[in-house]
Amino acid sequence: MKYGTDILKQADVLAAFTEDAPQLTRTYLSKEHKQAGAYLIGLMRDAGMTAGFDPLGNIVGRYEAGVPFAPVVMTGSHQDSVRNAGRYDGLFGILSPIACVKELNRQHKRLPYALEIVGFGDEEGVRFPATLIGSKAMAGLFDPAWLDKTDASGVTMRQAINDFGGDAEKWCELDRRNGAPNSAHGEVVAFVESHIEQGPVLLNDGLAVGVVTAIAGATRLRVTVTGLAGHAGTVPMGARQDALTAAAEMVLFVESYCTQNAGLVGTVGIMSVKPGAVNVIPQDVEFTIDVRSSEDSLRADAINAINAEFTVIAKRRNVVVVTNVFFSSNAAPCDAGLQAQFAQAINAHGITPRYLPSGAGHDAMVFPAVAPTAMLFVRCGNNGISHHPDETMTAEDAEVATSVLLHFFENYQPPQFSASSAQRVDRQI
Ligand code: GLV
Ligand code: MN
Ligand code: MN
Repeated sequence: MKYGTDILKQADVLAAFTEDAPQLTRTYLSKEHKQAGAYLIGLMRDAGMTAGFDPLGNIVGRYEAGVPFAPVVMTGSHQDSVRNAGRYDGLFGILSPIACVKELNRQHKRLPYALEIVGFGDEEGVRFPATLIGSKAMAGLFDPAWLDKTDASGVTMRQAINDFGGDAEKWCELDRRNGAPNSAHGEVVAFVESHIEQGPVLLNDGLAVGVVTAIAGATRLRVTVTGLAGHAGTVPMGARQDALTAAAEMVLFVESYCTQNAGLVGTVGIMSVKPGAVNVIPQDVEFTIDVRSSEDSLRADAINAINAEFTVIAKRRNVVVVTNVFFSSNAAPCDAGLQAQFAQAINAHGITPRYLPSGAGHDAMVFPAVAPTAMLFVRCGNNGISHHPDETMTAEDAEVATSVLLHFFENYQPPQFSASSAQRVDRQI
């Protein structure tokens, strides 16, 4: 096998860079992020690329084009993980293109564009109340106010970036829409991402790979419910202001609304209860909601319905509820032309192209604002389980997906440079 066995072994090595062994958890700007980055930079250099960390801790490798003033095709995925994660989510989309470049370099082959592979520092949003931090910086969507956000230990993102060895104030140098500083990199003409499917569609259809049509949009809310603490043994049942029972009703409303309205999914993934004693009525509850749909209007309706119903529940139970949106992204359609080129690459491997939407979020979802964007999905074993240590991928599927990605890279023709963009690059060099 040319690629698959090595990629799986590399994913095993990366899984050891974890904050809570034997589980896999690797958050943005952690020591383990640095270790994983150093390993990936080594792989990139071995494959014939220049590579290093950028000022925000993204891992960036570049394989120069065969022609001068060439545009850039960017590919990659995230190095960070959820808590107790699987080992292929994100990492496959970094390792697979590195294997492609290694093969191109072995053949002394250059492309008519520079290929940049990025291991984005943060996509999952586990450490800070922001998500897609690295990819948004590169798509011109970085919010400088994020630098003042704190993690659970009170460390600001600015401090964490600087402690990591980055330079928080240089975020603007990554901004691909920011003109001058980045034009030295050339114009980004496409963003493509390969990723484990994280669901069962390809598995059920007996297909190793598929073409993503669109990435679902998402809204994330933080909800605080404030009641009144009291003695668990003395306050009569009818006289309580129990924040947790109110929150429980709210959680069940999210579930029933998203069940009854096809095309939506809703999840409450974090909840804290204070004061948190067996004999005290809960006073303060905080929880998160994540609502997704590939139709933005469905998602907007769901958020309105949630706010309205939570107000009713809070009134009836004599508690106060406050909801805050801390993340929102619209559904991101994949470029039709690039989808067709992935389909052609899949066909060339004797596989019928299967088109499917992505319910999961991805770094790719921020790039349609900058460049045509597409994604290749790879079959996820074990009933499609992901965000879980039982996530699996076979070496055979990693092999096919990498070969399809290489076919795509070798056949992709960048659009002709416009005179103005060529001049812009000229000035910088
Ligand atoms: C990222 O994995 C997400 O979809 O939340
Ligand atoms: Mn994930
Ligand atoms: Mn992912």
